[in-house]
Amino acid sequence: MRCLPGIPTDGQAVLDNASSVPVYWMPSAYGGAKPSDPGDRIPPPTLSGHRASGPAGGDGLAPRTPATTGRPARARDRRPTNQTTPERPTMTTTPSRPVFPPGLGLSAVEVLTTTRAVRRRLDLTRPVPREVIEECVRVAAQAPSGRNRQRWDFVFVEDAATRAAVADIWRRGLAVPPAGIEGPQYSRMNFGSREWTRIRISLDHLAEHLHEVPLLLIPCLRVGSRAELSTVRGQAGAWGSVIPAFWSFMLAAREHGLGTAWTTCHLSYEREMAELLGLPYDTVVQVALTPVAYTIGTDFKPGPRAEPGAFVHWDRW
Ligand SMILES: Cc1cc2nc3c(=O)[nH]c(=O)nc-3n(C[C@H](O)[C@H](O)[C@H](O)COP(=O)(O)O)c2cc1C
Repeated sequence: MRCLPGIPTDGQAVLDNASSVPVYWMPSAYGGAKPSDPGDRIPPPTLSGHRASGPAGGDGLAPRTPATTGRPARARDRRPTNQTTPERPTMTTTPSRPVFPPGLGLSAVEVLTTTRAVRRRLDLTRPVPREVIEECVRVAAQAPSGRNRQRWDFVFVEDAATRAAVADIWRRGLAVPPAGIEGPQYSRMNFGSREWTRIRISLDHLAEHLHEVPLLLIPCLRVGSRAELSTVRGQAGAWGSVIPAFWSFMLAAREHGLGTAWTTCHLSYEREMAELLGLPYDTVVQVALTPVAYTIGTDFKPGPRAEPGAFVHWDRW
């Protein structure tokens, strides 16, 4: 592990050499380890701890010399040797060490169909070891992202006082109706159904206990500026570059006996959350918030969903 300077100013930014995901632990937003120089810009993440000038390894992005590739030099390989080249992050495809700790041993389909929004069956008393989280993060980092830029950041909040403050913002967000949903909305959920009543009850339970959940995770995305989100294409590229990793984290968590629940209500107060956690609001966009805790029991079933015939189209709409 090594600490990176830079955001978030109140947290300890930790780049796990194997997982390649910048993971920010917020041991204490009020007393946690400070970066050595908060004014520093974060350098591009050095994935797997290597620099482009180091051994090329098996990655696809490290500059290779013609000697090692056996192909004719390309233009960028023929730079004068005294020309300094900007350092680029390198990536490894070397498999990480064997999975530790072992998971539940679920099949891929079981994981995919039984990763529920867990609100009432979160074990509020059992601590979640960082080793388990780091394993889930390592899995998450294999998700796709636009140009493989891996612009995600995972901010974990474990300090009790900070969790309480986060939960307070989240609860206030829950009371705010989402913007822009006036008028008729399309839904395959019947809001008069028992299923919806069940969700409402479990949501109330989560609202009551969120601050007690051992770990809260806010996945984030780095952007050049928030203007990037002003077009559908910009949004697709942005959200599509973090949500798969976030969902992979949740799937991996399920395999390790952990429960999660995707929520977005705190985003009504995103700026306030950014200030609380020291996130640079202009260039780091929050995506969601999930509680992370061991589940009470590990048996979960597939949830109610529309039949594929209701949403699958062949050849045309
Ligand atoms: C984009 C998105 C936003 C969501 N927002 C919230 C939320 O603010 N609060 C909450 O309790 N659940 C939220 N959920 C969880 C959904 O209610 C849940 O995924 C859905 O009911 C299916 O649950 P199941 O997988 O347990 O069947 C959200 C899920 C998604 C994908």
